[in-house]
Amino acid sequence: MKSDALVFLGATGDLAYKKVFPALQSMVKRGHLTVPVIGVAKAGWSLEQFRQRAKDSLEKHGGVDADAFGKLSGLLHYVDGDYENPQTFAQVRKELADSKHPAHYLAIPPNLFGLVVQQLENSGCAAGAKVIVEKPFGRNQDTARELNKILHAAFEESDIFRIDHYLGKLAVRNLLAFRFSNVVLEPVWNRNFVDSVQITMAEDFGVQGRGAFYEEAGAIRDVLQNHLMQVLANLAMEPPPGTTDAESVRDEKVKVLKAIRPLQEKDLVRGQFRGYRDEKGVAPDSKVETFAAARLFINSWRWQGVPFYLRTGKNLAVTCTEIMVRFRQVPAIYSDQPPPGNYFRFRLNPEVTIAMGAIVRSSGEKLVLEPVELLVSHEPTPDELDPYEMLLTDAMNGDPSRFARMDYVDEAWRIVDPVLQSGGPVYEYDPHTWGPKEADALLDGRAWNNPAVPGHQLNQPVQTR
Ligand code: BG6
Repeated sequence: MKSDALVFLGATGDLAYKKVFPALQSMVKRGHLTVPVIGVAKAGWSLEQFRQRAKDSLEKHGGVDADAFGKLSGLLHYVDGDYENPQTFAQVRKELADSKHPAHYLAIPPNLFGLVVQQLENSGCAAGAKVIVEKPFGRNQDTARELNKILHAAFEESDIFRIDHYLGKLAVRNLLAFRFSNVVLEPVWNRNFVDSVQITMAEDFGVQGRGAFYEEAGAIRDVLQNHLMQVLANLAMEPPPGTTDAESVRDEKVKVLKAIRPLQEKDLVRGQFRGYRDEKGVAPDSKVETFAAARLFINSWRWQGVPFYLRTGKNLAVTCTEIMVRFRQVPAIYSDQPPPGNYFRFRLNPEVTIAMGAIVRSSGEKLVLEPVELLVSHEPTPDELDPYEMLLTDAMNGDPSRFARMDYVDEAWRIVDPVLQSGGPVYEYDPHTWGPKEADALLDGRAWNNPAVPGHQLNQPVQTR
């Protein structure tokens, strides 16, 4: 069912400013948004001020398109009020006029979900509606289950859209298309050929003024449990049976997570960049991790014994998200030592790259083997769908494929819950490095793939097995 209005709670917040207004303008431009957009917040603003905020946001994030912005302005409504006050929601219902299937986008802190859902229900706004919720979805398995209960009191699971913006990224969506459209991959995409898989999401900046938020999250909750786990599921899942319908794809992803044992301390290294404790909103003795590296195994027919190494961190050497799928080495024929194994390298950010590492004979007289990369790369263009645009469009159209289903979120928390509870050493690292050296010990003698940025320099060939 298509939504006939978008109610947007938290409309004066940071996320709205950085991501949502630009997404809405693009949706209007493509003709994907023609229904009323009702902003709700408590800022003491008028509709004119709200429109001005939208304009400021666009000026800073991608630019104002006069025609599209004009149309968007005409769609905007604004309700100013406290979430505790039933009047606020009575006013929302009034602004919804004859809309029967609104989408409520909760861009608000999760501790307000209970209250807001209740108010939506009491005011009649929840009837026939969908709800879109931002991450983080809970702080652990128990709180995620509580959130689900709250949402399920007013909405069916099929009407709940849990955002993980990584699922809206073109490069992440491409992983499945690439895997399931190229016949040469399937025979080797398993434990018989793959030596190891690494997923690195590195950021060369710190917490950017979000210290208070980050103190509650840390790298495991902020990125590893959601973005990295989604990438892993795309890499490891089985092809859905003869169809790409949303539930078949989501079923396969859940199966991957079900086959992963909960993380143990021996499989995790935490780090904190030097200087984090001086950030605003951060405790002077904070033990929150700004870096996490983990080793996971998928206990399935396809993947048993293949380590998946996940790593993320703030203030690392570069900003880049990259996957490295390394293959086993061939037997040594040309010399005593076998050449490095082949690999597939997928760069998801900043540019989109798929590269294959191969071995060739060098041009000299003597037989010398040389590693090369076969590479295809794509620089994002301004007219490409940004993840937020993609996801809001999907949610408004009622397409759940790129949203996290309840059982998936539950499994993802199950995997990280033990290490969230146990806590463990947090090693300091210098900003603009690759994190604490202790993370090397996770690799069982392998080396981390430290993405080379900028350009497409050849990643270091390493010995596999
Ligand atoms: C967010 C995290 O979900 O993803 C941030 O809260 C992180 O800490 C961001 O910086 C990264 O997203 P992207 O799209 O810039 O890779």
